[in-house]
Amino acid sequence: MSGTSADAAARLAALAALASEAEREIRAAPDAAALQQLRTDYLGRKAGRLTLAMKDLPGLEPEVRRAVGQKANDLKAALERLLAEAEQALAAAPGDHAADLTMPARGSWRGAKHPVTIVLDRITAIFAELGFVRYVGPEAETERNNFAALNFPDDHPALDMHDTLYLGPGIVLRTHTSPLQIRVMEAYRPPIRVLMPGMCYRRDPFDASHAPMFSQVEGLAVDEGITFVDLKATLTHFARRLFGPATKVRFRPSFFPFTEPSGEMDVECGICHGPGCPACKHTGWMEILGCGMVDPAVLENVHVDPERYTGWAFGMGPGRIAMNLFGIPDIRMLHDADVRLAAQFVDAS
Ligand code: PHE
Repeated sequence: MSGTSADAAARLAALAALASEAEREIRAAPDAAALQQLRTDYLGRKAGRLTLAMKDLPGLEPEVRRAVGQKANDLKAALERLLAEAEQALAAAPGDHAADLTMPARGSWRGAKHPVTIVLDRITAIFAELGFVRYVGPEAETERNNFAALNFPDDHPALDMHDTLYLGPGIVLRTHTSPLQIRVMEAYRPPIRVLMPGMCYRRDPFDASHAPMFSQVEGLAVDEGITFVDLKATLTHFARRLFGPATKVRFRPSFFPFTEPSGEMDVECGICHGPGCPACKHTGWMEILGCGMVDPAVLENVHVDPERYTGWAFGMGPGRIAMNLFGIPDIRMLHDADVRLAAQFVDAS
């Protein structure tokens, strides 16, 4: 007798068994061809096992027909979904159907700050604590701001085409960041405390210790009553904040057209701490900046009264400092586009 509830229960059980068998086989299918075969085996229009199981549905009692039909339809949809998922998973895993676990892992790359940027950020942070604000200006600079306004005589060798890159009449690629002193003092009245980072250009060869393009940081303080003591104290404090509290510094007299008196500040070599080594050319010291009291002639050029105001300035190369701090032996590495350089240095600030 067909179409009874016992018959319905038996058919539902058979469908459930068919379902779990199908699921097991689909999950175990090794490739797309096997999946295709399973699709035909179960869902094929003529001889698919699920199709066959539904063949005599029309002859059953309405209630049984509804229950079994519903179950069979659900099962069909579930199998379709399983097959589609399995096909997708196989398509997403290329190669020989399985991941090759012996392959080296693909390295993930994290961005990193360039060593010069790390040093520049530290310098800026130290001077920010002392009230210095950051100011930036153009790399194409007027010859006047780069030289004449800074008290360079017209026959100074730096003005020569052999040393300076001219972009056109009266326009140079700035050879230092000092022209920003002129820009700041023409735009703002004292008191002034600025830090001015930027790229500079000189007609230098490109070798282990020279680059035609390099970064500088300029500093300038102008106010009433500023003396050389302020310069020495501030720069000494700066060096100890950057290189460590016990760091020895020394000032040597020097010359720049735009400062008088002028000096150079050395810090104790961070590699040998005194006795001398190849990194400090056996001097025990490392020169890190040029400095001096702003020449009254420069103040006059920007209409700041030198009888009332005094100031001091410095310029240093964060590239050189980065090479020293991080032990980078060749300046050309700072210009290398290889991301593995930057990835090595950790910004510990
Ligand atoms: N501009 C000088 C240089 O490029 C450095 C400097 C800046 C010196 C400010 C004194 C004062 O070498």
